[in-house]
Amino acid sequence: MTATIVLGAQWGDEGKGRVVDHFSKNADMAVRFQGGNNAGHTIVIGEEKFALSMTPSGVLYPHVTPVIASGTVIDPKALLNELAMLNERGITTSKLRISSNAHLIMPYHRKMDAIQERYLGRNQIGTTKKGIGPAYTDKFARSGIRVQDLFDPKIFRDKLTLSLVEKNKILTRVYNQLPMDADEIATEYLGYAEQLMPFVTDTSLLVWEAINDGKTVVFEGGQGTLLDVDHGTYPFVTSSNPTAGGVLTGTGIGPKAIDEVIGVSKAYLTRVGTGPFPTELLDETGDRMIDLGHEYGVVTGRRRRAGWLDVVALRYAVRINSLTSIFLTKLDILSAFDEIKVCVGYTSLGEQYSEFPRQQRVLYNCQPIYETLPGWRTDITDTRAYVDLPKEAQQYIEFIEDQLRTPCDWISVGPEREQLLTRR
Ligand code: GDP
Ligand code: IMO
Ligand code: MG
Repeated sequence: MTATIVLGAQWGDEGKGRVVDHFSKNADMAVRFQGGNNAGHTIVIGEEKFALSMTPSGVLYPHVTPVIASGTVIDPKALLNELAMLNERGITTSKLRISSNAHLIMPYHRKMDAIQERYLGRNQIGTTKKGIGPAYTDKFARSGIRVQDLFDPKIFRDKLTLSLVEKNKILTRVYNQLPMDADEIATEYLGYAEQLMPFVTDTSLLVWEAINDGKTVVFEGGQGTLLDVDHGTYPFVTSSNPTAGGVLTGTGIGPKAIDEVIGVSKAYLTRVGTGPFPTELLDETGDRMIDLGHEYGVVTGRRRRAGWLDVVALRYAVRINSLTSIFLTKLDILSAFDEIKVCVGYTSLGEQYSEFPRQQRVLYNCQPIYETLPGWRTDITDTRAYVDLPKEAQQYIEFIEDQLRTPCDWISVGPEREQLLTRR
């Protein structure tokens, strides 16, 4: 296991943080390649709970070099706060490396994110309002400001001033807001330069060297496959590529460097924010999933939407990412149900679908076709071997494997490090 991608196979919050933490035990490097502090990755170690938004989850192991690569967008204040929180809790962050090419989330990005959502009204995406979309918009418009610009105050001020000419027109004339002040922003941001300086480097080279030296590298996705800007449920997506392709562009490595692609999936399904969700349960069963699974967003505290596992969507994730394995999380939550449903196809507008539909109108009208499996109604949180799982739980897992033609090599039965079954 040299270079392994860990990514979300659903709509995010699958448990990627705990999975990366698991693999970090034997890893040298953990790399975030896309997204920003819209992510919220939880790791539970005994009584301690860590919620990480920007720092790779490998940071909890002192032997791991955490890397924030070029494809990410960084809010420097939020990142420095997170590092301070970690240091206060006794976690060393000195090994952290940040790409000089990563883009900065600026105060006007956060403002635009919030205002644009308000203007969308009923059609809003339900973003995390961290400025992710506007920061990536500027990146692709080639008007973004990058981490390296912090170390050249003249360039930083020039780029900022130029950017604000346009931003302030939009803020004042389109959205009826007060303009933002370049000097104020420059003073704040240039003030972060000194603190960030020791971490900043060419992370593409760093990761390449690690892989070349046979080191073990884990890539940690933010968000999930169905939130991918190209392959997700557009426009109800994030503004990056949380899929396997995003690892390559976001880190600056080639496909041959990758050995394994692990898709993290809950044993059921959740989504936070708006957009289509064919297996969503708006009844008591859904409420129970949310209560038992503590399905509330790490970043925004919002109640997540919940429903049965959708293997059509998961098959799509297997294909889009070339998944080599599934890491199935939160199986313990399903212990509460007498029977368990799995969506194996859809009907929509009079037609039947076995592949994830590309057409938004079709997707919006999807009604799930379910297979019903027996529940096990036994506490499995102390189970540590696959053979010790109730036979109905094994049947459920094998049904998923059969549907996906992909092995579920790891299954977790609780949030703690050791609440885990490994099958290889
Ligand atoms: P991420 O964004 O993909 O890292 O996932 P989140 O941290 O946002 O959400 C996953 C939540 O489920 C966290 O609160 C985890 O502590 C918790 N969790 C992870 N695995 C399990 C599991 O197997 N069982 C239970 N009950 N909770 C889990
Ligand atoms: P992790 O890494 C779940 C969702 C938001 C919204 C959409 C766009 O913890 O799995 P954005 O702020 O990115 O522009 O919001 O994407 N979203 C997430 N949902 N988990 C996440 O991250 C998410 N990051 C963004 O709720 O629907
Ligand atoms: Mg999360």
